[in-house]
Amino acid sequence: MSQPDNKQSDRGSFGNRLGFILAAAGSAVGLGNLWKFPYLTYKFGGGEGDQHGAGTFVFLYLLCIALVGLPLAIAEILIGRRAKKSPVGAFKALRPGSLWRAVGYLGVVTGFIILSYYTVVAGWATGYVAKSVTNEFANYESHVSNETVYDRILQETREAQQDQSISKEAALAQFGAKYPDSEAYDNAIKEKKLEAYPVALFSDFLSSPYKLIGYFLFFMLLTVGVVLGGVSGGIERWNRILMPALFLMLGILAVRVLTLPGGTKALTFLFKPSFSDISIEMVLFALGQAFFSLSLGMGALLTYGSYLKKNERIGASAVAIVSLDTTVALLASIVIFGSIFSYGLVMKGSGIGNLFTAIPVIFQHMPGGRILTILFYLLICFAALTSTVSLLEVVASTLIDERGMKRRTAVLTGAGVITLVGIPCALSFNVLSDFTLAGKTVFDLFDYFASNIALPLGGIGIALFVGWALTRAEKREELPELATPTFRVWNFLIKYLVPAAVAIVLIATLMGQI
Ligand code: PHE
Repeated sequence: MSQPDNKQSDRGSFGNRLGFILAAAGSAVGLGNLWKFPYLTYKFGGGEGDQHGAGTFVFLYLLCIALVGLPLAIAEILIGRRAKKSPVGAFKALRPGSLWRAVGYLGVVTGFIILSYYTVVAGWATGYVAKSVTNEFANYESHVSNETVYDRILQETREAQQDQSISKEAALAQFGAKYPDSEAYDNAIKEKKLEAYPVALFSDFLSSPYKLIGYFLFFMLLTVGVVLGGVSGGIERWNRILMPALFLMLGILAVRVLTLPGGTKALTFLFKPSFSDISIEMVLFALGQAFFSLSLGMGALLTYGSYLKKNERIGASAVAIVSLDTTVALLASIVIFGSIFSYGLVMKGSGIGNLFTAIPVIFQHMPGGRILTILFYLLICFAALTSTVSLLEVVASTLIDERGMKRRTAVLTGAGVITLVGIPCALSFNVLSDFTLAGKTVFDLFDYFASNIALPLGGIGIALFVGWALTRAEKREELPELATPTFRVWNFLIKYLVPAAVAIVLIATLMGQI
């Protein structure tokens, strides 16, 4: 077999398997788990309307992870390690002169798109670090007007009594009658303000184009700084401490909210499927989210795989990455919905801000909450950074390998273009919020296209390549540790089930739209 010419020493490699797992898990664990999964579960669980629960969506998601995500993660790492190249180069090296390299190019374009809007959300997390430092979350009393609270009381009373004709005066009188004196009444109004505050604060934040662009640029610079330093620089070391710290904090918060009254409603909301609400749109989103969350289908795992040493086990690494990623997504949702239900938070809008509205409330109710809030949003920024780094690394390593650019030029060129594309995404929440196509803002369109179409398409390409273009002997050489039956199951999934299932979902969606 002709090994492609690899300059392993120039490309660098991971110190050991743990280094690879941490970097790959760092790519996988990010805003996809902490921000997007809780946002989608809210959307498919009924959101502010009829909250019938997201059980069906969560079930579909887990199914996609097990049947599509895991086999594909193995396939992607395998290609990378065999070729020791970035995505485009890898396909060229393994099957010279073929059209397979198109899969690599698609991945690079997808990386561009994801990075542009992903960094906007990472900017929100940065802004929330600043808000935690200045303790803005404590200012709810002066921030929420009495009118807002009265409206909410009216709405709650109407809902509770299922009577839309109740007047505001009547609702307020009923509310007031529950409290013996004016002090108790004032406290109740205060509590209502606290419930409404996070949503008000977040929409305030989104309405400022300068802030959003500022934090976006800041985060982009941070990413550029890390990628300029090369893969196995400081970030790998930080990963070892900060990833477990994030995990630990999520674990503690989950226990905390689940022991509060009403907190366990989060479990019913997330895990009790009804199946009557299933739709092709839901299947598409579950699949797209599996791709997005695992960093699959655009060559990120492939690129990290290219730095993996020959004697490391791909299968076991993939299982570790996938389990970790899924656990973080579920924990984050438990924490967020636990907080929403136990503190009776106002559910409003698309749920896109769940990560930013629910978390500060938990900490407001905890001793040392201010420090913990700062720490938590810092960890979120770090998780986002390890993901943006992997995205920019794909773009940069392609420019280096394919265009012969110097690392510096490649990183700056890539990031420069992505920044220009990202600005309209940041403006989608304010100046450009009315600029929509099929009801979607630029931000939504990018997210929809990248997660639900481009990544799954890339996934089909990768599955077909590994399933049909690589020989059994080539695959066996990369996966010597898999027992024969396990190898066969994996090979079957990659050859038939993954490409067919993903294609069916994509085609069904397309047909649904015409
Ligand atoms: N998986 C990352 C997350 O969950 C996002 C990402 C997608 C990173 C694709 C790289 C490639 O946040």
